Amino acid sequence: MGIGGGIAAYKACDLASKLVQASHEVFPVMTDSATQFVAPLTLRALTGNPVGVKSTDEPVGTLSHVKMAHWAEMLVIAPLTQNLLAQLSLGLSSDLLTLIFQGYSGPSVVAPAMESEMWLSPQTQTRLEELKRARVVSVVGPNTGRLASGRSGPGRMAEPSEIMNAVWSLTRPKTLQGRVILITAGATWEYFDPVRILTNPSTGTVGLSLSRELSARGARVIVVHGPRMEEPFWPGVEYQEVVSAKDMLEAVEENISEADTLIGAAAVSDFRPAKPFSEKQKKEQLDLLWPMTANPDIMSEMGAKYHDSKVLVGFAAETDQVLSAAKEKLLRKHLDAVIANKVGPSRGFGDSEYEAQIILREGASSHLHCSSKEELANCVADLLGTLRPKVGQKSYP
Ligand code: C5P
Repeated sequence: MGIGGGIAAYKACDLASKLVQASHEVFPVMTDSATQFVAPLTLRALTGNPVGVKSTDEPVGTLSHVKMAHWAEMLVIAPLTQNLLAQLSLGLSSDLLTLIFQGYSGPSVVAPAMESEMWLSPQTQTRLEELKRARVVSVVGPNTGRLASGRSGPGRMAEPSEIMNAVWSLTRPKTLQGRVILITAGATWEYFDPVRILTNPSTGTVGLSLSRELSARGARVIVVHGPRMEEPFWPGVEYQEVVSAKDMLEAVEENISEADTLIGAAAVSDFRPAKPFSEKQKKEQLDLLWPMTANPDIMSEMGAKYHDSKVLVGFAAETDQVLSAAKEKLLRKHLDAVIANKVGPSRGFGDSEYEAQIILREGASSHLHCSSKEELANCVADLLGTLRPKVGQKSYP
């Protein structure tokens, strides 16, 4: 982990701690000016490893620049100051950190942090473009927000959690490169009147976890989701918010031509009020037998149109007879796979544990016990690697 000499170096301490907590072994290497902002002892205590500063320091363990450049599997540089960026890009090696970088050929994550004018200057942008051309570099941020000068603008270092996401993303196998995956997620809202809705307890976390994993595996991911879904939304994923089932169907129809795969993770409302009111209805006026009408079944409609040309994966959340219901859905909706899981008042929606079964068109099925929705996303990503895009699609590696 490289730390440049800018005020954002204080956030590098949190990042170092988060990297260690995620089971990475972290060797901090600071520029001389970084040590003016944060004491090397702080990073030593957080990582449990010696901190490198000067190239002339006596090598400690892996801390010779040659050994370090070969040992490291990833280089994370945060904050990346303008001076440091220029040095890395120009191939200069004036201290331990730049020496390591020049001798290193693996992937890097860099988090630029500087005043807005410095960030926007043509020199900085040119250096960054050259660095990206020459190396495998994932650039996180900078964000727009309050800067050390007190002013607001672009140049604020990305948050440690965003940098962690980029680090995680680089470690994922790029098995879905070239694929374009459309996901529906969350619950839909069906309005009775402006203050009353019909919806369900879906939180959308399965769809969001899927979007993160599939995007990290190299796919272009578009998520069409219901309203007010809880974050996190992941960088690099395209999110489109809709309200009702009809809106969701429209958005899916707009995007499906670009996609080779559709995953229906949304809990779509099966019905909607037949005659919604544009004005709030007084309680006394409410007819408790509100007439309803059926919503379109998005996966069924897409299955009917695209089962020959797209990979279609549905979900089946059931309270009982999970397997037979899932198999019936797979056939009726013309899907390639269904992920079946048991739900109830206290399980399934928003849970962290996820018990599921993947059922394939060919009749095969496999049981999944996932301790998290991230693990489920990982299994679905593996599954998609085996379900190749169909005829009419470009060929993929
Ligand atoms: O029939 P059921 O709602 O249980 O089917 C679940 C699957 O169908 C999920 O993949 C869900 O996203 C999708 N679905 C849909 N449109 C609906 C209802 C469900 O796309 N109106």
